[in-house]
Amino acid sequence: MATGSIHQVANPFRFLLQFCFVDLAAGFSAWWYRVAVERDTPALFDQIAAGYDTTNWLMTGGLWGVWRAAFARHAPIARGSRVLDVGCGTAELSLLLARMGAGEVVGVDLSEGMLARGRAKVERSPHADRIHLQRGDAMALPFADASFDAAASAFVMRNVPDLDRMLAEMVRVVRPGGAAVVMELSHPPSKLARGLFTPFFRVMPPVLGRLLRGPGGSAAYGWLPESLARFPGAEALAARMAAAGLADVSFRRLTAGIVCLHMGRRPLPRQEPLY
Ligand SMILES: C[S@@+](CC[C@H](N)C(=O)[O-])C[C@H]1O[C@@H](n2cnc3c(N)ncnc32)[C@H](O)[C@@H]1O
Repeated sequence: MATGSIHQVANPFRFLLQFCFVDLAAGFSAWWYRVAVERDTPALFDQIAAGYDTTNWLMTGGLWGVWRAAFARHAPIARGSRVLDVGCGTAELSLLLARMGAGEVVGVDLSEGMLARGRAKVERSPHADRIHLQRGDAMALPFADASFDAAASAFVMRNVPDLDRMLAEMVRVVRPGGAAVVMELSHPPSKLARGLFTPFFRVMPPVLGRLLRGPGGSAAYGWLPESLARFPGAEALAARMAAAGLADVSFRRLTAGIVCLHMGRRPLPRQEPLY
């Protein structure tokens, strides 16, 4: 009885305390993390934009080509569709989407350095009239609801402070029935692959980054293993995609699960019975 009365008295106070300290502190720290990432991400990628494609190719031992081919084979991109490339970087995926037959590709990225490289590549390509690149944040996409047939993203989600928000934004801008496709580094399920890949991946990017890009490269590429360590596994990411409102979520592990291709569809509105 006494406990009950203590609870009745203590609860409003606890809520007040929690609101004042715990929730406010958590809210402030999430806000600060977002501000820091928004401030630092463009600088980080601006730093490595110049040699990004070559470094990428060397670091993956050419596997990026294999993953690109898998994306082209499995991603549900319809011919003539309007597709968003979130975190387009140097426009590798935007160009692939155009080659796959997308009618229009819009790429967004926070880094002007990466966008400049991408624009130069797009202008030299035969798809210049169908690809448009612009600055924008994956977590606050500057587009209207349901304005794309599909939204795709490659190797970006690890870098954002709030992946659920990025997923929610991708779902928001895709029309009902449209697809969301995410290609990202992942955690191989087999112990052997993990045992080989994890130490290699911890050491290789900062060392190669330093060799190719100097001390700045070491810091920039040193972020890679750290970002993967914080990133959810394939099943967990699929669950987060479903929680973001996607239906028919599936994934394919590529190269023993080093990379994963996740796909889902924004459901069509439920038809209410006429009577
Ligand atoms: C590893 S690169 C991948 C680029 C490209 N998608 C590719 O596959 O080559 C990650 C890109 O995500 C961009 N990025 C990171 N956080 C972002 C955000 N919040 N909004 C938009 N772009 C972001 C970076 O600027 C960078 O160009």
